[in-house]
Amino acid sequence: MSEQYLPPIYWEGEEVAMIDQRVLPKREKILKFTTPQQIIKAIKNMTIRGAPAVGVAGAMALAVGARRIEASDAKIFKRKFEQLCQQVKKARPTGNNLSWAVERIYSVVVENPRSKVSELQHLIRQKADEILAEDIAGNKSIGAWGKSVIPAGARILTYCNAGALATADYGTALGVIRAAHAADPSIQVLACETRPFLQGSRLTAYELMRSNIPVTVLTDNAVGSIMQQQRVDVVVVGADRIAANGDTANKIGTYTVAVLANTHNIPFYVAAPRSTIDPSIADGSGIPIEERSPSEVTHIGGRSVAPKGIPALNPAFDVTPNKYLTGIITEVGILRRPYRRAIRKALET
Ligand code: MRU
Repeated sequence: MSEQYLPPIYWEGEEVAMIDQRVLPKREKILKFTTPQQIIKAIKNMTIRGAPAVGVAGAMALAVGARRIEASDAKIFKRKFEQLCQQVKKARPTGNNLSWAVERIYSVVVENPRSKVSELQHLIRQKADEILAEDIAGNKSIGAWGKSVIPAGARILTYCNAGALATADYGTALGVIRAAHAADPSIQVLACETRPFLQGSRLTAYELMRSNIPVTVLTDNAVGSIMQQQRVDVVVVGADRIAANGDTANKIGTYTVAVLANTHNIPFYVAAPRSTIDPSIADGSGIPIEERSPSEVTHIGGRSVAPKGIPALNPAFDVTPNKYLTGIITEVGILRRPYRRAIRKALET
Protein backbone atom coordinates (compact mmCIF):
# COMPACT_ATOMS: atom_id res chain seq x y z
CA MET A 1 0.00 0.00 0.00
CA SER A 2 1.29 3.51 -0.82
CA GLU A 3 2.23 5.96 1.94
CA GLN A 4 -0.83 7.45 3.62
CA TYR A 5 -1.08 11.00 4.99
CA LEU A 6 -4.53 11.58 6.45
CA PRO A 7 -7.12 9.98 4.15
CA PRO A 8 -10.53 11.38 5.13
CA ILE A 9 -12.51 8.62 3.43
CA TYR A 10 -11.82 4.99 2.57
CA TRP A 11 -13.47 1.61 2.17
CA GLU A 12 -13.71 -0.80 5.06
CA GLY A 13 -14.99 -3.81 3.17
CA GLU A 14 -18.40 -2.75 1.89
CA GLU A 15 -18.68 0.16 4.37
CA VAL A 16 -17.51 3.72 3.88
CA ALA A 17 -15.31 5.07 6.69
CA MET A 18 -14.73 8.79 7.27
CA ILE A 19 -12.78 10.88 9.76
CA ASP A 20 -15.32 13.21 11.35
CA GLN A 21 -13.83 16.60 10.37
CA ARG A 22 -16.24 18.44 12.67
CA VAL A 23 -14.43 17.22 15.77
CA LEU A 24 -10.81 17.54 14.61
CA PRO A 25 -8.30 18.33 16.02
CA LYS A 26 -9.71 17.28 19.38
CA ARG A 27 -10.45 13.74 18.31
CA GLU A 28 -9.71 11.44 15.37
CA LYS A 29 -13.18 9.93 15.33
CA ILE A 30 -13.99 7.44 12.57
CA LEU A 31 -17.60 7.09 11.42
CA LYS A 32 -18.87 4.21 9.26
CA PHE A 33 -21.65 4.48 6.70
CA THR A 34 -23.70 1.81 4.99
CA THR A 35 -26.30 3.81 3.03
CA PRO A 36 -26.06 6.60 0.44
CA GLN A 37 -28.45 8.74 2.50
CA GLN A 38 -26.02 8.67 5.43
CA ILE A 39 -23.19 9.76 3.14
CA ILE A 40 -25.28 12.59 1.64
CA LYS A 41 -25.96 13.79 5.19
CA ALA A 42 -22.23 13.58 6.03
CA ILE A 43 -21.47 15.78 3.00
CA LYS A 44 -24.12 18.34 3.99
CA ASN A 45 -23.11 18.53 7.65
CA MET A 46 -19.36 18.78 6.89
CA THR A 47 -18.32 15.45 8.38
CA ILE A 48 -16.45 15.35 5.08
CA ARG A 49 -15.60 18.55 3.20
CA GLY A 50 -13.20 19.92 0.61
CA ALA A 51 -14.30 19.75 -3.03
CA PRO A 52 -12.26 16.70 -4.17
CA ALA A 53 -13.07 14.73 -0.99
CA VAL A 54 -16.75 15.51 -1.47
CA GLY A 55 -16.46 14.25 -5.07
CA VAL A 56 -14.95 10.98 -3.84
CA ALA A 57 -17.66 10.70 -1.15
CA GLY A 58 -20.32 11.21 -3.82
CA ALA A 59 -18.81 8.43 -5.95
CA MET A 60 -18.69 6.08 -2.96
CA ALA A 61 -22.28 6.97 -2.00
CA LEU A 62 -23.33 5.90 -5.49
CA ALA A 63 -21.36 2.64 -5.28
CA VAL A 64 -23.03 1.85 -1.94
CA GLY A 65 -26.43 2.94 -3.31
CA ALA A 66 -26.11 0.90 -6.51
CA ARG A 67 -25.46 -2.22 -4.48
CA ARG A 68 -28.56 -1.61 -2.36
CA ILE A 69 -30.96 -1.11 -5.28
CA GLU A 70 -33.25 -4.11 -5.35
CA ALA A 71 -34.07 -4.69 -9.00
CA SER A 72 -33.38 -7.61 -11.27
CA ASP A 73 -34.46 -5.65 -14.34
CA ALA A 74 -31.70 -3.31 -15.63
CA LYS A 75 -34.25 -0.70 -16.77
CA ILE A 76 -35.71 -0.39 -13.26
CA PHE A 77 -32.19 -0.32 -11.80
CA LYS A 78 -31.21 2.53 -14.11
CA ARG A 79 -34.29 4.58 -13.24
CA LYS A 80 -33.64 4.23 -9.50
CA PHE A 81 -29.93 4.86 -9.92
CA GLU A 82 -30.56 8.03 -11.90
CA GLN A 83 -32.77 9.36 -9.08
CA LEU A 84 -30.00 8.65 -6.59
CA CYS A 85 -27.47 10.45 -8.82
CA GLN A 86 -29.68 13.56 -8.74
CA GLN A 87 -29.88 13.47 -4.93
CA VAL A 88 -26.13 13.05 -4.50
CA LYS A 89 -25.37 15.88 -6.96
CA LYS A 90 -27.42 18.32 -4.90
CA ALA A 91 -25.65 17.65 -1.57
CA ARG A 92 -23.33 20.68 -1.94
CA PRO A 93 -23.61 23.16 -4.80
CA THR A 94 -20.33 25.07 -5.21
CA GLY A 95 -17.61 22.43 -5.62
CA ASN A 96 -17.41 21.08 -9.16
CA ASN A 97 -15.90 17.75 -8.18
CA LEU A 98 -19.20 16.37 -6.86
CA SER A 99 -21.17 16.76 -10.08
CA TRP A 100 -18.07 15.71 -12.05
CA ALA A 101 -17.85 12.48 -10.03
CA VAL A 102 -21.58 11.78 -10.36
CA GLU A 103 -21.41 12.26 -14.14
CA ARG A 104 -18.41 9.96 -14.34
CA ILE A 105 -20.10 7.27 -12.34
CA TYR A 106 -23.32 7.62 -14.35
CA SER A 107 -21.32 7.14 -17.56
CA VAL A 108 -20.95 3.48 -16.51
CA VAL A 109 -24.68 3.00 -16.97
CA VAL A 110 -24.74 4.88 -20.27
CA GLU A 111 -21.75 3.01 -21.69
CA ASN A 112 -23.00 -0.46 -20.75
CA PRO A 113 -26.58 -0.59 -22.06
CA ARG A 114 -26.66 -4.39 -22.24
CA SER A 115 -25.12 -5.19 -18.87
CA LYS A 116 -26.98 -7.04 -16.13
CA VAL A 117 -27.67 -5.33 -12.79
CA SER A 118 -24.92 -7.26 -10.99
CA GLU A 119 -22.39 -6.24 -13.66
CA LEU A 120 -23.40 -2.59 -13.39
CA GLN A 121 -23.06 -2.70 -9.62
CA HIS A 122 -19.56 -4.13 -9.99
CA LEU A 123 -18.52 -1.58 -12.63
CA ILE A 124 -19.88 1.32 -10.56
CA ARG A 125 -17.81 0.24 -7.57
CA GLN A 126 -14.78 -0.08 -9.86
CA LYS A 127 -15.31 3.45 -11.18
CA ALA A 128 -15.59 4.83 -7.62
CA ASP A 129 -12.28 3.13 -6.76
CA GLU A 130 -10.76 4.63 -9.89
CA ILE A 131 -11.89 8.16 -8.91
CA LEU A 132 -10.35 7.75 -5.45
CA ALA A 133 -7.02 6.42 -6.76
CA GLU A 134 -6.80 9.05 -9.52
CA ASP A 135 -7.38 11.85 -7.05
CA ILE A 136 -4.38 10.77 -4.97
CA ALA A 137 -2.17 10.32 -8.05
CA GLY A 138 -3.31 13.74 -9.36
CA ASN A 139 -2.42 15.41 -6.08
CA LYS A 140 1.08 13.95 -6.16
CA SER A 141 1.50 15.41 -9.66
CA ILE A 142 0.16 18.78 -8.51
CA GLY A 143 2.81 18.67 -5.77
CA ALA A 144 5.56 17.77 -8.22
CA TRP A 145 4.65 20.65 -10.56
CA GLY A 146 3.92 23.11 -7.80
CA LYS A 147 7.13 22.80 -5.83
CA SER A 148 8.95 24.58 -8.67
CA VAL A 149 7.17 27.88 -7.86
CA ILE A 150 8.11 27.82 -4.16
CA PRO A 151 11.23 29.89 -3.44
CA ALA A 152 13.96 28.52 -1.16
CA GLY A 153 13.06 29.00 2.50
CA ALA A 154 9.65 30.40 1.52
CA ARG A 155 7.02 31.52 3.98
CA ILE A 156 3.89 30.14 2.30
CA LEU A 157 0.47 31.44 3.23
CA THR A 158 -2.51 29.16 2.72
CA TYR A 159 -6.20 29.54 3.36
CA CYS A 160 -8.86 27.05 4.46
CA ASN A 161 -7.82 23.41 4.15
CA ALA A 162 -6.76 22.06 0.77
CA GLY A 163 -4.91 19.15 2.30
CA ALA A 164 -5.18 15.39 2.58
CA LEU A 165 -8.41 15.94 4.51
CA ALA A 166 -9.97 17.87 1.62
CA THR A 167 -9.08 15.27 -1.02
CA ALA A 168 -8.71 11.49 -1.17
CA ASP A 169 -5.27 11.99 0.44
CA TYR A 170 -2.08 14.14 0.15
CA GLY A 171 -3.87 17.38 -0.79
CA THR A 172 -3.71 20.01 -3.52
CA ALA A 173 -2.34 23.25 -2.01
CA LEU A 174 -0.92 21.19 0.85
CA GLY A 175 0.33 18.70 -1.77
CA VAL A 176 2.45 21.54 -3.18
CA ILE A 177 3.60 22.35 0.35
CA ARG A 178 4.39 18.68 1.11
CA ALA A 179 6.48 18.36 -2.06
CA ALA A 180 8.22 21.69 -1.44
CA HIS A 181 8.99 20.69 2.15
CA ALA A 182 10.43 17.33 1.08
CA ALA A 183 12.84 19.22 -1.19
CA ASP A 184 13.50 22.10 1.23
CA PRO A 185 12.76 21.50 4.92
CA SER A 186 13.34 25.20 5.69
CA ILE A 187 9.98 26.31 4.23
CA GLN A 188 7.31 27.50 6.67
CA VAL A 189 3.54 27.66 6.42
CA LEU A 190 1.17 30.36 7.60
CA ALA A 191 -2.34 28.95 8.00
CA CYS A 192 -5.21 31.43 8.15
CA GLU A 193 -7.78 30.27 10.69
CA THR A 194 -10.66 30.56 8.15
CA ARG A 195 -13.77 31.73 9.91
CA PRO A 196 -16.42 30.55 10.42
CA PHE A 197 -15.70 26.80 10.20
CA LEU A 198 -12.00 27.17 11.11
CA GLN A 199 -10.68 24.74 8.50
CA GLY A 200 -7.28 26.49 8.71
CA SER A 201 -6.67 26.44 12.46
CA ARG A 202 -8.38 23.09 13.06
CA LEU A 203 -7.51 21.05 9.98
CA THR A 204 -4.57 22.58 8.06
CA ALA A 205 -2.63 23.20 11.26
CA TYR A 206 -3.41 19.67 12.44
CA GLU A 207 -2.37 17.84 9.32
CA LEU A 208 0.82 19.87 8.81
CA MET A 209 1.87 19.41 12.43
CA ARG A 210 1.22 15.69 12.03
CA SER A 211 3.54 15.71 9.00
CA ASN A 212 6.20 17.72 10.84
CA ILE A 213 5.91 20.69 8.48
CA PRO A 214 6.43 23.98 10.37
CA VAL A 215 3.10 25.82 10.59
CA THR A 216 1.89 28.96 12.35
CA VAL A 217 -1.78 29.94 12.64
CA LEU A 218 -3.00 33.52 12.19
CA THR A 219 -6.39 35.19 12.21
CA ASP A 220 -7.84 35.98 8.80
CA ASN A 221 -7.76 39.69 9.50
CA ALA A 222 -3.98 39.61 10.19
CA VAL A 223 -3.20 38.80 6.53
CA GLY A 224 -2.97 42.42 5.31
CA SER A 225 -0.66 43.44 8.08
CA ILE A 226 1.76 40.52 7.80
CA MET A 227 1.93 40.97 4.01
CA GLN A 228 2.67 44.65 4.55
CA GLN A 229 5.51 43.62 6.86
CA GLN A 230 6.92 41.38 4.07
CA ARG A 231 6.40 38.18 6.04
CA VAL A 232 4.78 36.21 3.17
CA ASP A 233 6.66 35.06 0.04
CA VAL A 234 3.95 33.17 -1.81
CA VAL A 235 0.28 32.19 -1.42
CA VAL A 236 -1.06 28.75 -2.41
CA VAL A 237 -4.75 27.90 -2.02
CA GLY A 238 -7.13 25.23 -3.31
CA ALA A 239 -10.30 25.68 -5.35
CA ASP A 240 -13.89 24.49 -5.38
CA ARG A 241 -14.82 25.43 -8.93
CA ILE A 242 -12.81 27.11 -11.67
CA ALA A 243 -14.73 28.70 -14.53
CA ALA A 244 -13.61 28.41 -18.18
CA ASN A 245 -11.77 31.75 -17.90
CA GLY A 246 -9.91 30.85 -14.69
CA ASP A 247 -12.12 32.76 -12.23
CA THR A 248 -11.89 30.65 -9.08
CA ALA A 249 -14.39 29.90 -6.33
CA ASN A 250 -12.78 28.92 -3.04
CA LYS A 251 -13.51 29.32 0.66
CA ILE A 252 -14.99 32.67 1.69
CA GLY A 253 -12.10 35.07 2.34
CA THR A 254 -9.87 33.77 -0.47
CA TYR A 255 -10.73 36.78 -2.63
CA THR A 256 -9.59 39.15 0.12
CA VAL A 257 -6.27 37.28 0.40
CA ALA A 258 -5.83 37.44 -3.41
CA VAL A 259 -6.41 41.21 -3.55
CA LEU A 260 -3.99 41.74 -0.69
CA ALA A 261 -1.36 39.49 -2.32
CA ASN A 262 -1.74 41.47 -5.53
CA THR A 263 -1.37 44.79 -3.73
CA HIS A 264 1.84 43.54 -2.10
CA ASN A 265 3.26 41.89 -5.26
CA ILE A 266 3.13 38.42 -3.71
CA PRO A 267 2.56 35.50 -6.14
CA PHE A 268 -0.89 33.93 -5.67
CA TYR A 269 -1.31 30.34 -6.90
CA VAL A 270 -4.39 28.12 -7.05
CA ALA A 271 -3.71 24.36 -6.87
CA ALA A 272 -6.49 22.11 -8.16
CA PRO A 273 -7.10 19.00 -10.25
CA ARG A 274 -8.85 19.30 -13.61
CA SER A 275 -11.97 17.78 -12.01
CA THR A 276 -12.43 21.16 -10.29
CA ILE A 277 -12.61 22.98 -13.64
CA ASP A 278 -16.09 23.59 -15.02
CA PRO A 279 -15.75 24.53 -18.70
CA SER A 280 -19.54 24.97 -18.96
CA ILE A 281 -19.37 28.15 -16.86
CA ALA A 282 -17.88 31.05 -18.83
CA ASP A 283 -16.78 33.13 -15.85
CA GLY A 284 -17.06 33.41 -12.08
CA SER A 285 -20.43 35.16 -12.15
CA GLY A 286 -22.06 31.84 -13.07
CA ILE A 287 -20.64 29.84 -10.14
CA PRO A 288 -23.34 28.93 -7.59
CA ILE A 289 -22.32 30.05 -4.08
CA GLU A 290 -23.53 27.96 -1.17
CA GLU A 291 -25.14 29.89 1.67
CA ARG A 292 -24.85 28.01 4.95
CA SER A 293 -26.65 28.34 8.26
CA PRO A 294 -26.24 31.67 10.12
CA SER A 295 -25.57 29.64 13.26
CA GLU A 296 -22.06 28.82 11.94
CA VAL A 297 -21.32 32.56 12.25
CA THR A 298 -23.17 33.34 15.46
CA HIS A 299 -21.76 30.30 17.28
CA ILE A 300 -18.25 28.87 17.67
CA GLY A 301 -18.02 25.28 18.87
CA GLY A 302 -21.66 25.43 19.94
CA ARG A 303 -21.10 28.61 22.04
CA SER A 304 -22.93 31.81 21.11
CA VAL A 305 -20.65 34.74 20.14
CA ALA A 306 -23.34 37.19 18.99
CA PRO A 307 -26.60 38.58 20.39
CA LYS A 308 -29.36 35.98 20.36
CA GLY A 309 -31.55 36.21 17.25
CA ILE A 310 -29.20 38.51 15.27
CA PRO A 311 -29.27 37.92 11.50
CA ALA A 312 -25.95 36.70 10.03
CA LEU A 313 -24.61 36.29 6.51
CA ASN A 314 -22.82 33.03 5.78
CA PRO A 315 -21.74 32.70 2.15
CA ALA A 316 -19.41 29.68 2.20
CA PHE A 317 -17.35 30.66 -0.87
CA ASP A 318 -16.23 33.67 -2.88
CA VAL A 319 -14.89 34.13 -6.39
CA THR A 320 -11.40 35.41 -7.15
CA PRO A 321 -11.21 36.98 -10.62
CA ASN A 322 -8.53 35.42 -12.85
CA LYS A 323 -6.55 38.69 -12.98
CA TYR A 324 -5.34 38.02 -9.42
CA LEU A 325 -3.95 34.54 -10.17
CA THR A 326 -0.24 34.03 -10.87
CA GLY A 327 -0.99 30.49 -12.05
CA ILE A 328 -3.21 27.43 -11.65
CA ILE A 329 -1.24 24.36 -10.62
CA THR A 330 -2.90 21.24 -12.04
CA GLU A 331 -1.84 17.61 -12.37
CA VAL A 332 -0.85 18.25 -16.01
CA GLY A 333 1.16 21.41 -15.45
CA ILE A 334 0.97 25.02 -14.33
CA LEU A 335 -1.56 27.04 -16.30
CA ARG A 336 -0.74 30.69 -16.99
CA ARG A 337 -2.73 33.46 -18.62
CA PRO A 338 -4.52 33.71 -20.95
CA TYR A 339 -6.39 31.21 -18.80
CA ARG A 340 -9.22 30.44 -21.18
CA ARG A 341 -6.77 29.01 -23.69
CA ALA A 342 -4.58 27.28 -21.07
CA ILE A 343 -7.65 25.67 -19.48
CA ARG A 344 -9.00 24.48 -22.82
CA LYS A 345 -5.64 22.88 -23.61
CA ALA A 346 -5.35 21.27 -20.15
CA LEU A 347 -8.80 19.70 -20.49
CA GLU A 348 -7.86 18.25 -23.87
CA THR A 349 -4.75 16.57 -22.42
O1 MRU B 1 -16.53 24.32 2.92
P1 MRU B 1 -15.33 23.46 2.64
O2 MRU B 1 -14.52 23.17 3.85
O3 MRU B 1 -15.70 22.22 1.87
O4 MRU B 1 -14.43 24.35 1.69
C1 MRU B 1 -13.21 23.83 1.23
C2 MRU B 1 -12.42 24.75 0.42
O5 MRU B 1 -12.81 25.85 0.13
C3 MRU B 1 -11.12 24.21 -0.11
O6 MRU B 1 -10.17 25.22 -0.22
C4 MRU B 1 -11.38 23.62 -1.51
O7 MRU B 1 -12.42 22.70 -1.45
C5 MRU B 1 -10.19 22.98 -2.07
S1 MRU B 1 -9.78 21.50 -1.25
C6 MRU B 1 -8.59 20.68 -2.10
